[in-house]
Amino acid sequence: MWQDFPLFPPSASTNSGAIDGIYLYLILVSVFFGLLIAGLIVFFSIRYRRRHAAERGAYIHGSVPLEIFWTSIPLGIAMVAFAWGAVVYFDASKPPADVMDVYVTGKQWMWRLQHPQGQREINDLHVPIGQPVRLTMTSEDVIHSFFIPAFRMKRDVLPGRYTETWFEATKPGEYHIFCAEYCGAKHSEMIGTIYVLEPEEYEQWLSGAPAGETPVAAGAKLFEAQRCDTCHGTQSGARGPDLAGRFGTGVRLDNGRNVVFDEAYVRESILRPQSKISAGFEPLMPTYEGQIGEEQILQIIAYLKSIADDGGKAQ
Ligand code: CUA
Repeated sequence: MWQDFPLFPPSASTNSGAIDGIYLYLILVSVFFGLLIAGLIVFFSIRYRRRHAAERGAYIHGSVPLEIFWTSIPLGIAMVAFAWGAVVYFDASKPPADVMDVYVTGKQWMWRLQHPQGQREINDLHVPIGQPVRLTMTSEDVIHSFFIPAFRMKRDVLPGRYTETWFEATKPGEYHIFCAEYCGAKHSEMIGTIYVLEPEEYEQWLSGAPAGETPVAAGAKLFEAQRCDTCHGTQSGARGPDLAGRFGTGVRLDNGRNVVFDEAYVRESILRPQSKISAGFEPLMPTYEGQIGEEQILQIIAYLKSIADDGGKAQ
């Protein structure tokens, strides 16, 4: 019903219906109580107006049943919104297993995106219908926010950190991408288009776009070019931990703490290698700060993911 309603963006992802549902519930509750309270104010002001100067109101001592009544009803309404919202939120936070990875870098004032097959896009993103897409995002300068209203999906994009979000498009078409965080003079021009295509059309688009290197291949190359493999390889002796099969697992640090080998850990270890040292290793690694950009770090992450997925058999 909303598709033809000009104030409302189209609903084009697997999560958008559920999010609209809870939005509608909140609107209806607000409208109902807004009208009820406004109506009662008007009604009571007339019904109980002072009719002559000597009139005094009746003295009321309160009523416990009444207090319980109008405390429990709003509590119930709020708990419905809470429980329902929590279910929708958890569903919308966790991507399905067969997800396709797209890497996003925001910078003043454009979006740079890269497909797993290597195709790069600026301010445009082509995706197939019915395929969950996970965005791993970071910023090269200030805070941006990646917003696709038609998918009811918005996530801040932060410098020095990774954020993740996902969607699965359900309707072919072209939809807006906005930056939803004020990020400088041309914030309002930091816009783009997402093209949702049928799977065959997407394959066609992929084969027509210059592929370049896949993030995994570029990462593997960087891993060699930066000589990471001299310390982090299988035959490297014990100067650094072997990284095959490690992504997504736990890491024990020399201070006894445990951390997860994830995107943020990899990034920190490349830029500030001394901050978290794996147990049993010396702090020998130099920093790569200034020598390697955000996109390159994402490529190394893609590579480390790839040698974790296949149990470290690649390379
Ligand atoms: Cu980027 Cu606003």
